[in-house]
Amino acid sequence: WVRLVTAQTPTNIAVIKYWGKRDETLILPVNDSISVTLDPNHLCTTTTVAVSPAFDRDRMWLNGKEISLVGGRYQNCLREIRKRATDVEDKEKGIKIAKNDWENLHVHIASHNNFPTAAGLASSAAGFACLVFALAKLMNVREDEGKLSSIARQGSGSACRSLYGGFVKWIMGNNEDGSDSLAVQLADEKHWDDLVILIAVVSSRQKETSSTSGMRESVETSLLLKHRAQEIVPKRVVQMEEAIKNKDFPSFASLTCADSNQFHAICLDTSPPIFYMNDTSHKIISIVEKWNRAEGTPQVAYTFDAGPNAVLIAHDRKAASELLKRLLFYFPPGAGTDLNSYVIGDK
Ligand code: DP6
Repeated sequence: WVRLVTAQTPTNIAVIKYWGKRDETLILPVNDSISVTLDPNHLCTTTTVAVSPAFDRDRMWLNGKEISLVGGRYQNCLREIRKRATDVEDKEKGIKIAKNDWENLHVHIASHNNFPTAAGLASSAAGFACLVFALAKLMNVREDEGKLSSIARQGSGSACRSLYGGFVKWIMGNNEDGSDSLAVQLADEKHWDDLVILIAVVSSRQKETSSTSGMRESVETSLLLKHRAQEIVPKRVVQMEEAIKNKDFPSFASLTCADSNQFHAICLDTSPPIFYMNDTSHKIISIVEKWNRAEGTPQVAYTFDAGPNAVLIAHDRKAASELLKRLLFYFPPGAGTDLNSYVIGDK
């Protein structure tokens, strides 16, 4: 017999960034972060997990290619879920797995992203969240989403925020064992559903410096990072929560843009400096800044992760279509710019 579970998880985009760990193994951050989870139909990961007595070892395929599960983050997630497995009974298929059987059973995992892996579009966030969620269903784990988020966190920090829809905060926590470092939902997906998120894919090439090694170098060398984590983010998180609660777009936009720019300033403050944005990214920033200034009140917020692609959050559909018009004007198709932008729909 084979028991199968399939899950689909969207990615999330941080508006207050996570950058820097205080514990690399448990993946504990140096500051809280806040994100918005995208609509599940767009940038998402689909993962199928299977268990069968015929499987002789755990195996995983990512976008059709087998990857090694030896050591590391996948093993940490698998171990934490296996520990919490409970009895499973599927009468229809005649499957009965007792709690204690799980340690001798192996799983096969097949995961697909519908967007480029490691291009700075937070594929690891959706990937680990989906893996943990699917395994928890397979093994009948009875923990709540908060606990599952702290397991997904051990796969990739940003993954803990993809266990919930809407607006999500990853609380950094204080405990050394990481038990209080988990995600909470600030507002569900129905709250503030006027927002439209557009991703301008500047490049789908794999990024040169991974988030993991980039943030390690920043923690080791950037003084600005310490200032940000201790002085800036705690205040910004409070202001951002307030802006989200009140659907206050001007505050939301100015905090989002400022936080993205500060994250990239930290990358520059790292030795050797890390450049995630390119000329096209900078051009997009100035287009948005000029437009927002001309309107008197912001229409669009921008944010960039560990890559050159722009995530643009428009106030509403009208602002989104105006934004698209402007992008097409500055980056006409076929004119040699490598911008290939597409609307990915609602939040
Ligand atoms: C810039 O979660 O990919 O997207 O925990 O090492 O796997 P690891 O890093 P990851 O870092 C994401 C960094 C970011 C900001 C964010 O999503 O908050």
